[in-house]
Order: sequence, then C-alpha cells, then structure tokens
Amino acid sequence: MFVRLLSLLSMMCFSISALATELEVLHWWTSGGETRSAQLLKSMMEEQGFSWKDFAVAGGGGESAMLVLKARAVSGNPPTAAQIKGHDIQEWAKLGFLTNLDGVAQQDQWDALLPDLVSDLMKYQGKYVAVPVNIHRANWLWANPAIFHKVGVDYPSTLDEFFVAADAIKAAGYLPLAHGSESWQDVTLFESVALAVLGKEKYRKAFVDLDMDTLSGEQMVAVFRYFQKFRDYIDPEAEGREWFVSTSMVGNGEAAMQLMGDWAKGEFTATGKVAGKDYVCLPAPGTGGIFSYNIDSFVFFKSPDGIQKEAQEALAQSIMAKPFQKEFNAAKGSLPVRTDIPLDSFDRCSKSSVSAYKQAHNHDNLVPSLSQSMATTTYVLSAISDVVTNFFHDPFSDPEKAADRLARAVKAAL
Ligand code: BGC
Repeated sequence: MFVRLLSLLSMMCFSISALATELEVLHWWTSGGETRSAQLLKSMMEEQGFSWKDFAVAGGGGESAMLVLKARAVSGNPPTAAQIKGHDIQEWAKLGFLTNLDGVAQQDQWDALLPDLVSDLMKYQGKYVAVPVNIHRANWLWANPAIFHKVGVDYPSTLDEFFVAADAIKAAGYLPLAHGSESWQDVTLFESVALAVLGKEKYRKAFVDLDMDTLSGEQMVAVFRYFQKFRDYIDPEAEGREWFVSTSMVGNGEAAMQLMGDWAKGEFTATGKVAGKDYVCLPAPGTGGIFSYNIDSFVFFKSPDGIQKEAQEALAQSIMAKPFQKEFNAAKGSLPVRTDIPLDSFDRCSKSSVSAYKQAHNHDNLVPSLSQSMATTTYVLSAISDVVTNFFHDPFSDPEKAADRLARAVKAAL
C-alpha cells in the first residue's frame, strides 16, 4: 500500500515537474520561412532545458489558430503560450486569462527598449500581458525584376501606374498579380488600396474610429472601384492558393507581383532568393511614406497554481533577448522590436523597412494594419472581411452598394 502511494506520489511529482518545464506554444507559422524562424525559438528554449510542444495551426492571418485557441481555453485547457496580437490581447486580458509579465518586463527594462507604439499594445491596464516579437510592414509590393525588364515597364508607385504596368505585363503573356482566395488576403489587398485612395487620415477615420460617414462615403466607393479592378490581373487558379505559394510564384518568375506583408520576405530568404536580384520590394502603390504596421506577439495563459509561470517568463525573456531578436527577424522578414539591434547584416529590404518606419514615425505616417487585427477588434474585422471578400468574389458587385454594406456591417458588429 505504502509502496503504491509512493509510486503514485513520484508519478505526480514527475508530471508536475514535466508540466513546469513544458512549453506548449500555439502559433500559425507553418510556411517554409515561418517554420524556419519558429525553429530558432524552439531551439533556444530546448537549450535552456524546456521541452517544446509545437501547437501549429495552419492558416495565414491566424483565423483558424484563434478558433482552435478559443475552443481549448473555453474547455479549461489552454496552451502555455499563444501567438495573439493587436486588439485580441486586450480581449483575452479582460477575461482574466493572461499571466502578468510585469516582473520580467521591469527586470529587463522593456519600457526603455521598446517604442511606445509597441509597448502600449502589450499592456492591459498599464501591465505587460504580452511580449512583442517583431514589427512587420503590411503595405509592400513584391516584384519580379526579370519580368519587368522583359516587358520593359517601370515599377509602379501609384495605383494608376500599377494598372498601366499590369496591362503591359498581361499583354506580354505573364501573370501580373499572384493572389490567393482566403479572405484575409483579400483584406490585405483592400487595405493597401484603401490607404492609397483615402490617405492616412481618412484610413484611420474609417478603420480605427469606425466613422460611418467615411465608411459609406464617396471615397470609400472609389476604394471599392479600384479594388474591383485588381480582379482583372489575377488567374483563375488563385482559388485556394496560400499566400506563400503566391510569393514563390513571384520568386520563380511565374507572376510579376504580389501585394503582401513582409513575411513574404521570409519565404524568399528561406528559398535562397536575394533582395534586389531575384525580387524587389517597393511600397504598395500609392502608399509610399506610409507604414502599415503589424506587430506579432505572444501571450501566456494562467496555469493552475502558476506552475508554468517560470517557463513562461523564460520564454518571454528569450523572445526579448538580443540574439533572438536579431536572428529571428532576419529570417522572418520583420524588424526587431528592440531599438538597440544593429541591422548591418540585414538585407536591403529590411534596411528600407527600418528607414520607412523611422520616417513614418517622424511624420505621423504609422497606421495600424486592418487585415492584421491592429486597427480594430476581431468582431469588426470579421464583419469588414465578409463585405470585402464577398465583393471581390462576386463578378457583378457594385462599389456603391459595397460601401453602404461596409458601414452597415461595421455598425452591426459594434
Ligand atoms: C502574422 C505573420 C505571419 C503571417 C502569415 C500574420 O498574421 O502576423 O507573422 O507570417 O500572418 O502567416
């Protein structure tokens, strides 16, 4: 009896200590470049004696990952950590699910290391409840230089120039734009068009302030009109295509352009493509000077008796540590969140991104990415996504009606 009790106790101790050192991490980094980047974090944690249980849920933009996470959290079994960002951080914190990271944040001086834009997003009621990973820019155009050279057109810097270039590329027998069919990809494209047509002030009014007149107004009708035109440059096989497949099409010369955030650069890097030679990075047409930011971050779920707090703090500290910030972001295509990381070894697109960030910061041109949950709540974003996607996939869609629907959908989601 005594022996059985002892073995039961030792099994319990074993499983408690296993739990204390296990990191189950939910994320949606499943493409080639993303997996390579996530692997860096996994190795760093394993070197410190933690066991990494990968909880990867495919689907760019993280929509599927969020659904899985909600199901796990509601059943009382959340993972140790999860990739959550933007407004979702506040939502989960409000519900009382998140571990307070203020201890490590103060010890490691996060306030001094991070730009306010980043640290503000990581806090709930003044306390850190998330750790930032990187700064991505959403409004990029990726182009294949060989195709532009063969066709003899210039890279576009406005929407009208985009259509001129795309027409010439199409006439020469190339696919102008690689795109996929997931709604977040449609919203990514829509967001760049909206930024170009509305400019930063009206963009903020529409998607941050959710101003009904701007959402339904004449300029929004113009946004949908331009957006609609992009359909002419996409192939029928776009249906079901994932974002990173589009990226590889640009890299391999199967398509001339892609409008996508700089996680695309992680894909180019992972397949050995060189910035400036195999691909070029330009601001999305009409959005030069504006930086639409997308900040990845992780949150940590409270565990029974705080048993995982030590592991969670170690993960948070590793994410903020200099070696991780440098290596991970060079691989991922993003910028480090810390302001003290030298970027000499980063490629020319990262260097252009950091100078765009600084200039945008100085001229009040930083805007939160709509498609990446930075501008508004998940509820509002999902209402906007429905309108945008339905519009884009309906050959008979009407821009006037779409702007009206957009405002009504947002109102209903508030
Ligand atoms: C994330 C990026 C990721 C991209 C595609 C975005 O929502 O912020 O880190 O690479 O989705 O999966």
